[in-house]
Amino acid sequence: MAELVVALDFRDAGQALDMARTLRGVVPWMKVGLELFTAEGPRVICGLKELGFKIFLDLKFFDIPNTVQGAVRSAASLGVDMVSIHALGGERMARAAMDGCAEGVVSGQTPPLVLAVTMLTSMAAGDLPVEGAPEPSEMVLDLAVKAKQYGLNGVVCSGLEVERIKAACGSSFACLTPGIRPASAEAGDQRRVVTPGDAVRNGSDFLVVGRPVTRAERPEAVARAIIEEMDRAQ
Ligand code: C5P
Repeated sequence: MAELVVALDFRDAGQALDMARTLRGVVPWMKVGLELFTAEGPRVICGLKELGFKIFLDLKFFDIPNTVQGAVRSAASLGVDMVSIHALGGERMARAAMDGCAEGVVSGQTPPLVLAVTMLTSMAAGDLPVEGAPEPSEMVLDLAVKAKQYGLNGVVCSGLEVERIKAACGSSFACLTPGIRPASAEAGDQRRVVTPGDAVRNGSDFLVVGRPVTRAERPEAVARAIIEEMDRAQ
């Protein structure tokens, strides 16, 4: 069963926790990203855990292996359920991330899933600032296969790429898809977008939705409608 993750891209913990309270009992996962974590740090994670949410700490770590190992260790010790690194960091960075995860996990708890960001869903063909860059779908598939070989738990990719990744990496290799837009919503800065129903039909395990929910007049109603669309597509 695919699960909904709401991206809490807010500038302070007050706004983020208010939104989380609105969505409590409807949405199982909250995503804390760069804006909120940079402003508020670990205390916002504690607040969300107290509300009973599963947490995806999406800081997209990308640094030398030793630094990423320490960062994932620290993230795991906060008790989060999922963290992200960049697939482009390569094998040594990926393996160091998994080591950090095992070192930091809170005793008695399941270690967080470590997912690799393949290519941002805001980027399309031509956006990669590299001469002769491969097509996004080819590059994403290649990075996903390597992420699996390096022992990571899954990838962050667009809903357009899930089917091929699952075929190549197996159904237990997790695919988390941002760039989700209900048919009536604006794409904004996102480029490789799909609807919630299509993401689920393609095999996505986790759907990340931010602004279509958090900027809605009635966020809870939009979240419920997305979950209904997901359920119909399972
Ligand atoms: O508001 P929106 O639904 O576009 O939010 C998508 C969220 O997913 C943002 O928090 C963004 O940082 C994140 N994300 C993404 N593309 C990726 C990885 C993460 O949009 N490849």
